[in-house]
Amino acid sequence: MAIIKVKDLEFEPYLTRENIKAQIERIAAQINKDYEGKRPLFVAILNGSFMFAADLFKEVSIDAEICFIKLASYKGTKSTGQVITAIGLDQDIHDRHVIIIEDIVDTGKTLNEFLPQLMHQQPASLALAVLLHKPEATQYPIAINYLGFTIPNKFVLGYGLDYDGLGRNIPEIYQLKEQ
Ligand code: IMP
Ligand code: MG
Repeated sequence: MAIIKVKDLEFEPYLTRENIKAQIERIAAQINKDYEGKRPLFVAILNGSFMFAADLFKEVSIDAEICFIKLASYKGTKSTGQVITAIGLDQDIHDRHVIIIEDIVDTGKTLNEFLPQLMHQQPASLALAVLLHKPEATQYPIAINYLGFTIPNKFVLGYGLDYDGLGRNIPEIYQLKEQ
């Protein structure tokens, strides 16, 4: 792995395929144990989590389902501010054991607004599987049940994560280089 340039920015190698694979195997083993007999429904949040979701789901060996949603935010009223809605959640999550799959928790704003909405539908349980967490950037409380890596507050790219649409296809994770 070497330094790469994406658009105007330089990125340096951060997490290898082996690093990522090891964490995913660990998370999947834990989920296989925790959800045996519960037929969990994974809900992966597009676009960023598609690679993590695919690799994680391949390691899940118990009966499980998966669906993919997109979160769209639009301006609500003054009192509601930004409103986040889920597009494509056609499964009934009532009484289901739901595991959200997300690529990264940065400020935590997105999930902080979205998770209470899901709770309204009264799932049997709701857990969060997140590949990367930047605790220094997180401003909204988010309880992550299954976490891959705690990372510093630097922009990352690759393995589904993009910089202005580019870099999602890189199999490793790169970190913004001090320019
Ligand atoms: P939030 O600030 O926790 O709401 O982050 C929301 C979204 O911002 C994540 O799901 C990512 O799609 C994106 N994001 C946050 N940090 C990064 C990063 O370092 N690289 C690429 N995308 C990011
Ligand atoms: Mg995302």
